Amino acid sequence: MSEPLLIAKNDHTEIHLLPQMANRHGLITGATGTGKTVTLQVLAEHFSAIGVPCFMSDVKGDLSGISRAGGGNAKVEARVAQLGLDDFSHSGFPVTFWDVWGEQGHPVRATVSDMGPLLLSRLLNLNDTQSGVLHLVFKIADDNGLLLLDMKDLRSMLQFVGDNARSFTTEYGNVSAASIGAIQRGLLALESQDGDRLFGEPMLDIHDLMQTDGGRGVVNILAADRLMAAPKVYSTLLLWLLSELFENLPEAGDLDKPKLVFFFDEAHLLFDDAPPALVDKIELVVRLIRSKGVGVFFVTQNPADVPDKVAAQLGNRVQHALRAFTPRDQKAVRAAAETMRDNPDIDEAAAIMELGVGEALVSMLDAKGKPGITERALILPPQAQIGPISPAERSATIRGSLIAGHYEKQVDRESAHEILKERAATAAAAAETAAAGKAAAATERAGTQGAGGLLGGLLGGSGRREGVAEALAKSAARAIGSQVGRSLIRGVLGSLLGGKR
Ligand SMILES: Nc1ncnc2c1ncn2[C@@H]1O[C@H](COP(=O)(O)OP(=O)(O)OP(=O)(O)O)[C@@H](O)[C@H]1O
Ligand SMILES: [Mg+2]
Repeated sequence: MSEPLLIAKNDHTEIHLLPQMANRHGLITGATGTGKTVTLQVLAEHFSAIGVPCFMSDVKGDLSGISRAGGGNAKVEARVAQLGLDDFSHSGFPVTFWDVWGEQGHPVRATVSDMGPLLLSRLLNLNDTQSGVLHLVFKIADDNGLLLLDMKDLRSMLQFVGDNARSFTTEYGNVSAASIGAIQRGLLALESQDGDRLFGEPMLDIHDLMQTDGGRGVVNILAADRLMAAPKVYSTLLLWLLSELFENLPEAGDLDKPKLVFFFDEAHLLFDDAPPALVDKIELVVRLIRSKGVGVFFVTQNPADVPDKVAAQLGNRVQHALRAFTPRDQKAVRAAAETMRDNPDIDEAAAIMELGVGEALVSMLDAKGKPGITERALILPPQAQIGPISPAERSATIRGSLIAGHYEKQVDRESAHEILKERAATAAAAAETAAAGKAAAATERAGTQGAGGLLGGLLGGSGRREGVAEALAKSAARAIGSQVGRSLIRGVLGSLLGGKR
């Protein structure tokens, strides 16, 4: 058994987070400036110390300090003294920095195919009809071995399906021009936020998030300050990461400590105007990922930000202060108090409004998985630095990392975009050759046949078109290897996330 992690203390008791209960998830809440980020840092430090890697997004850019030993912080010294932490020492922890834009960390990428139509629909703000068409576009790509890796691929594929909508309608159902147009517009909007940078290869290998260094768990920090300007990209990326973890990790049963702890900061962004179907699926992912040995801790200002059925999955609770200016606030405070296990000696609702910075109502799961009695306590101070490191220190860490260079080189292998372009060129050339030797009337026929050849090949037509289909199948097999796997995986994710596949 891993040692219980001492997280908080008051004058009569010590509060521990049990590592074997960390996969029963958690919730850290509190108004701005009440100590949520430091609490998250303290939890991550403790997990790292017992060899558990963590993933967290750094919304305000104030988490990088975890890589450096603390010291010289009066608030920390005061707390060490107040809590009588005799063997407290300053320490830094191993960190890997990540950044969608590759500036403040190693680039994080997903392929379009892996993201799948459901998450993309959310990313692109599509309605049900449009989302249905996007599902069709994915299916047509899958059926024809066309890889969807980056935005170019998706754009080309949309164009292709749009241009040949009538030919696809019989087999796949209606592909309306308006829906294709809406998806294209969504892509433009995403590109205008530079959100297209998220897509491509090499795709993040989640095992790179699960490393240890000298026995300590690596803390993965995703730069999220810029991502906050595109909240849908942010929440979709994190949701994709969760589903990647879910799909790629084997069943783990009950472990004495988790394989990874995932902190989801600004979690309200995930639930803001999320359709009920998505909330259902998030609940499902959160519930099921537990058996893969992953703990998920949501961090948000108000516990009411998290839908009840998701909150019900979050066993370990740290409730920092809430302000209660309006009747609505007061209701939220009462609700927050009621969701914690009552301590007869504390008026929880009153306490929530009085708590100082770095102080909280804490209730951790006991060894039987039951919520412990709520205690009012001070969160331990972090051993590493509070606040950011310098840009130079950050660059040095990035350059010195084990994965330095791997994700930095984007690869652009043959995929839907290239294949469709090549096919179109071949078809045009065929038409031209035909035109050179024949009369004007014949040219026209050859032209249609050329285009038909492309479509025929993609749709598995016969005759001279077989050549195209075959070549396509071969190049697809070469390029993909795991396309079938991918599409299966997406099937799993699709069903998990409520897709139509
Ligand atoms: N456990 C703690 N030990 C020592 N100091 C703390 C602790 N918790 C908070 N503090 C102090 O309070 C400050 C604010 O805390 P923190 O940044 O965690 O607030 P927050 O809830 O994340 O705020 P925001 O919502 O604005 O991000 C810290 O910079 C630190 O100085
Ligand atoms: Mg914070």
